[in-house]
Amino acid sequence: MPVQIIVGAQWGDEGKGKIVDHLSEKVDIVARYQGGANAGHTVVVPTKGPGGMTTKEYVLHLIPSGIFHRHVKCVIGNGVVLDPAALMTEIGQLHQLGIPMKGRLLISHNAHLIMPYHKLLDTIREQGDQKIGTTGRGIGPAYIDKYMRTGIRVVDLLDRDILSTKLKRNIGEKNEILSKLYHSKELDVDEIIHEYQEFDKKIDEYVTDTSLYLYDALRKKKEILAEGAQGALLDVDHGTYPFVTSSSPTSGGACTGLGIPPTAISSVIGVVKAYSTRVGNGPFPTELNNEIGERLRKTGGEYGATTGRPRRCGWLDLVSLRYSLRINGIEKIAITKLDVLDDFDEISVCTGYRVNKKKIDNFPTDLRTLELIEPEYRVFKGWKTPTSGVRSYSKLPARARAYIESFASLLGTRVWMVSVGARRDQTLIVR
Ligand code: GDP
Ligand code: IMO
Ligand code: MG
Repeated sequence: MPVQIIVGAQWGDEGKGKIVDHLSEKVDIVARYQGGANAGHTVVVPTKGPGGMTTKEYVLHLIPSGIFHRHVKCVIGNGVVLDPAALMTEIGQLHQLGIPMKGRLLISHNAHLIMPYHKLLDTIREQGDQKIGTTGRGIGPAYIDKYMRTGIRVVDLLDRDILSTKLKRNIGEKNEILSKLYHSKELDVDEIIHEYQEFDKKIDEYVTDTSLYLYDALRKKKEILAEGAQGALLDVDHGTYPFVTSSSPTSGGACTGLGIPPTAISSVIGVVKAYSTRVGNGPFPTELNNEIGERLRKTGGEYGATTGRPRRCGWLDLVSLRYSLRINGIEKIAITKLDVLDDFDEISVCTGYRVNKKKIDNFPTDLRTLELIEPEYRVFKGWKTPTSGVRSYSKLPARARAYIESFASLLGTRVWMVSVGARRDQTLIVR
């Protein structure tokens, strides 16, 4: 069956956008299954400049990363929490680039909407004690309403009365919380109804039953790519809870988030950055709070694509990756940003954890144990040669291949692709 799932194997920002864009050339549909505009997926595409061909970088937050391939249909699934304001901005930007959207973008009628109060609550909750370091995009509060069964869905925009009843109930509750707990100003129901009905007019042409659409596509043997946002270690069930996002970025989330059966999945590809990064708070066993970490951040341009925050950087962590491979069912990996390591004399890889001097084999997901971890490292000699101009895997420096092959073998997985730059041509397929 023709559904491939692309998942981030670490804490997000592995380079999923680039990999999805690469694979989109050969698929019919790309479908986002969870998260919202907290994601920032970068795609670098060739464009005509005044002096000939050049490239331009685009950051997608809600629209699937296949959008730059005109034959690809892009689905925003029911598992996504949709911020219409963010979506309109993104559609507007793509229209300006001359990217056609009509008939190509399909939005699930069952996707939940991010409302202005979700963003407000997200921001003010973060002023409390246990800061998660969220993106402030209203993600947690919108999923709270979804699971409280009080959420407002895209389909609710169709009927002013339903929208108004639901909004009044929600806003009544939210205003109470906002004024009692946060001394914040009250929200105006009529203003929000007006704003969201205006959105409805603009997105109506894209809204459909995407689960049914995907079912038909599966019957017609179309190739589908399910695009995960965030990463496995930010998964609400399997990540470093509570320092996680509020959805299921792991491969399991693709079925519920798109309304497709598990039997439709043919493979799961994990995107792995050649080192580790994390934005926001929470445990990070191999974090480097020193000049090596600084160097990784600077060389790798490790600043959030959505919020611009500096990303925390550290060495590759095979213990967490082994866990990620296990819970996602990853059979092959794409390694990104290898070029960032080009100039390092030595490169370390975490091969094991010790907690209170005792070796532990499995990734712990409770905070107390995570905070006690002492990583054990294996040190590789750097290749000290630029790789961004290399165009075939066999032409990579021997030490770069040794690095890749050793860690893949320690992980017990197959390397399918190595990326040595953000551009499309900087992509090496491993035969
Ligand atoms: P995503 O959220 O997983 O899609 O990743 P982001 O777009 O947030 O972050 C990845 C960043 O690395 C983006 O700026 C990409 O353009 C860039 N990138 C992707 N692959 C490579 C690579 O192989 N080398 C380098 N140097 N940059 C890359
Ligand atoms: P992509 O798809 C990296 C992080 C936030 C915070 C936590 C919860 O680009 O890889 P949220 O706003 O989701 O409630 O924040 O999750 N986070 C990400 N980190 N990449 C992302 O997306 C992220 N989306 C959320 O920084 O720690
Ligand atoms: Mg990102």
